[in-house]
Amino acid sequence: MIDIQIGSYEESQILFIYEDTDHTGLPVNAVFHAEFLESFPLYQDGRLIVYIGLGKRGELTARRMTDAVAKGVRELQKLHLSAAGINLSAMVPACGLSCVRSAVLGIKLGLYAYAPYRADSREDSFRFFLHGIPQSLQQTAQEYLGKAVNLADSVILARDLVNAPANRLTPPLMADALKKEAEKCGVQAEILDEKLAEALGMSAFLTVGNSSANPPRLIVLRYLADPQSSEITALVGKGVTCDTGGYCLKSRDSMLGIKGDMAGGAAVAGAIFALARNQVRTNAVAVIPACENRISRQSFLPGDVISSMSGKMIEIQNTDAEGRLILADAVTYAIRKEGAARVLDIATLTGAVVGALGFTTAGVLTDSDQLWEDLSAAARVSGEQYWRLPIFPEYEEMVKSKIADVKNMGEHYCGTISAGLFIREFAQRLPWIHLDIAGTAWVDKPVFEHQSVGATGAGVTTLYDLLNTQGQCSGQKI
Ligand code: BES
Ligand code: ZN
Ligand code: ZN
Repeated sequence: MIDIQIGSYEESQILFIYEDTDHTGLPVNAVFHAEFLESFPLYQDGRLIVYIGLGKRGELTARRMTDAVAKGVRELQKLHLSAAGINLSAMVPACGLSCVRSAVLGIKLGLYAYAPYRADSREDSFRFFLHGIPQSLQQTAQEYLGKAVNLADSVILARDLVNAPANRLTPPLMADALKKEAEKCGVQAEILDEKLAEALGMSAFLTVGNSSANPPRLIVLRYLADPQSSEITALVGKGVTCDTGGYCLKSRDSMLGIKGDMAGGAAVAGAIFALARNQVRTNAVAVIPACENRISRQSFLPGDVISSMSGKMIEIQNTDAEGRLILADAVTYAIRKEGAARVLDIATLTGAVVGALGFTTAGVLTDSDQLWEDLSAAARVSGEQYWRLPIFPEYEEMVKSKIADVKNMGEHYCGTISAGLFIREFAQRLPWIHLDIAGTAWVDKPVFEHQSVGATGAGVTTLYDLLNTQGQCSGQKI
């Protein structure tokens, strides 16, 4: 249990200092330079103060604040302390009340650890008090705090799903888990089983889904809360609960991460739940094709030609390029059955994006400058990093097949672009944006303080901020 309140706490404190602060008055003067994330725990008059460096004043961002707080609470945890005041007075003048959200994310994500199957796993209890907020802003801060807790819990929900072992999160179990969560926050959930998907002609989805004894599920989460607008945004998330590669079997070394191949689905679910919990005025539908990609008697093979819900015929060149197949049908479903006006899809789609951008930045493909601008603005609030890749005519040729309409593999280069362009073939020329989070959804070695080994919850905050366009409040988003 982590309890966070606005208030003060005298016994222990986390205090943030800028590098360019005059250090002469500080007791840590000689050894502490307040470089970003530098920490210094000090017992003073019987109470602990954990000093955390913020680096240079002008360089403070939402993510830096989150990381500084995460660093502070981890230091506290190392010292076996379970309560502290978190002094935000250095951040408020620079960033306003957005530091409340950063602090909550830093606390909750910084202390997150996934170990539910360990006999010795226990949940520590913490109490934190955010202070240093001027009296006049305290009521608004209270509101920010509540919303930030909901957002952090949604990121944690996504992390838990991605960290869950494939045998404990099969497509039907994932559907059950999301349905249960949807009921708690007023989101309408509809689960389509393989028979319903068959009746809709979703054969690209079923081609992958039928490769396992654990049946596929199409999970639909509807959050329609803006009666003034008839526009629905579809958030389509890849939900491959385990990706062995199928007959194009993955190597032993690349097998370990296969349970995390539903991180796109987890991200859209997390975002929808956060929007609902915070009662954001928007219309969004999450569509998650959930299935396994395995070897069985029914598995598809390289060289097969399959149909799809859109009617387009697809040549299979590689059974490990399964994500784009299920997303193709999910995008068609979102447009035809849910009436989406614009489509965002998010997926752990290609190893190539890791080669291009590493583990900190997701790859983006879009044919809509507007959507790119909206996403960039959302990412500035969330602190996540996205980078747009180009769509040039010669790339568009890469997904064309000689014997069918499209093929599920490009050439041996620019794999992230060809994968995205395959999905675009199914977006029916609606505004479309594609996020490849194969590098950012999972970290074996955490890059940022607010991450822990394993799932990162990538995408949740940015998708939330993308749809939270009315969340502006005194210049800051909540
Ligand atoms: N889920 C994988 C992509 C992936 C790779 C995610 C590494 C996370 C870490 C996807 O289904 C896949 O296997 N893609 C292939 C496509 C190729 C066969 C065209 C890839 O990237 O190698
Ligand atoms: Zn694959
Ligand atoms: Zn995959």
